[in-house]
Amino acid sequence: MAQLWGGRFTKETDQLVYNFNASISFDQKFYKQDMEGSIAHVKMLGKQGILSEEETQEIVKSIKDILQEVEKGTLEISQKYEDIHSFVEATLIDRLGDTGKKLHTGRSRNDQVALDMRLYTRQEVLETDELLKELLNVILTIMENNLDTYMPGFTHLQKAQPVTLAHHMGAYFEMFKRDRQRMEDIYHRMNYCPLGCGALAGTTYPLDRYDTAKRMGFAGPALNSMDGVSDRDYLIEFLSALSIIMMHLSRFSEEVIIWNSNEYQFVEIDDAYSTGSSIMPQKKNPDIAELVRGKTGRVYGALISLLTTMKGIPLAYNKDMQEDKELTFDAIDTVKGCLALFTGMLSTMKFKKERMEASAKHGFTNATDAADYLVNHGVPFRDAHGIVGRLVLFCIEKKAAIDDLSLEELQKISPVFEADIFEAVSMKTCVEKRLTIGAPGQEAMKKVIELEKEYLGQDWKTKLQDWEQELLK
Ligand code: ARG
Repeated sequence: MAQLWGGRFTKETDQLVYNFNASISFDQKFYKQDMEGSIAHVKMLGKQGILSEEETQEIVKSIKDILQEVEKGTLEISQKYEDIHSFVEATLIDRLGDTGKKLHTGRSRNDQVALDMRLYTRQEVLETDELLKELLNVILTIMENNLDTYMPGFTHLQKAQPVTLAHHMGAYFEMFKRDRQRMEDIYHRMNYCPLGCGALAGTTYPLDRYDTAKRMGFAGPALNSMDGVSDRDYLIEFLSALSIIMMHLSRFSEEVIIWNSNEYQFVEIDDAYSTGSSIMPQKKNPDIAELVRGKTGRVYGALISLLTTMKGIPLAYNKDMQEDKELTFDAIDTVKGCLALFTGMLSTMKFKKERMEASAKHGFTNATDAADYLVNHGVPFRDAHGIVGRLVLFCIEKKAAIDDLSLEELQKISPVFEADIFEAVSMKTCVEKRLTIGAPGQEAMKKVIELEKEYLGQDWKTKLQDWEQELLK
């Protein structure tokens, strides 16, 4: 057992209590952020004259050494410490003696852990955004290549009106674009530094909180020390945004699974992204899509869990907050994994254009357009709706599509039909007449693709400062 706070105790902690309380098994994940926070803190203490220049340099150098050794694998993070903070401080004291004992001047583990978690998740927000961007690039390529790949658009999972694959993909583009906007939004709202909040009430040392905030790329210090140590809103927001990403991925996965089924055969998932059956030799299963859909539950679980943990916590820090870590780490890793795999699966997937087009043709997806034809020839819409309804019934009995009928057959149902009806209800016309912005017609889609390209061309992340190099140099 290795604890920082033994002074006022006369008895050893019970071993089970120690194990229950310890967090090193999971908070070692942010060893780097913990040491970066310490370096920023110590540099500031030096600047403020709280530590001498020599002490400052000695401590900073030693923390950098520890960091490098951990990264290289020559120094193991020993699980005998209570948490990562204790490990770093104890190692430092081991190496520097009394000077090492000055590291924690003007700091509490409460503001320290709040900082570590914030630094860690802030980086993860950036990485999630980057993965979303890669997915958007793949979707955009599919859109560009499939402006005239006709397919049925569905409502109630029933064929409704013809669209194109480009248009269908464009819907997902919008979803993941909004997910990126949420990343940007969260990043800026969370970007305030809790270091210097102390245990809850700041400190009596003349700390310069603006200085540490700046050293670590924050927009400024958290303006209330009680809030600074106990705010976990940003994690809840992040988990909420991650849940929405999973919801989008899960809907998309569901479509891939349906499209990949024997009945649809709209797509073929690449061998590298499918799996077989141990008993049925013919099987090629969409396991990746199913797993992504399945993992959605556990990300939602993390969100609900943290919301519930936080709802009863009085100000300021309480140990309940230690529970923010494992679930959040798991949710982040899960979402990043799902995004990467889904992007790979999508970019290698084959779309069977003829199957899609044939499916659109044989589902009466042009029935609305046939009714519109009658309306354009003077038939009131409600009557036109009835006529086309009868037409569809006739086709069902004949097992034919509307455009498979002869003009005589059509005219038996309504004399208003003329030879130009075939052109009017062709798949091409049905789609290409839909030209309002946001609709599937090619000209409309081309404008949208231009806008999406422009959007992808400017990345909000490129504006961020690179604080890390400066801090560690
Ligand atoms: N492991 C703790 C956590 O994750 C660190 C903060 C400990 N602070 C305390 N007062 N016990 O929240």
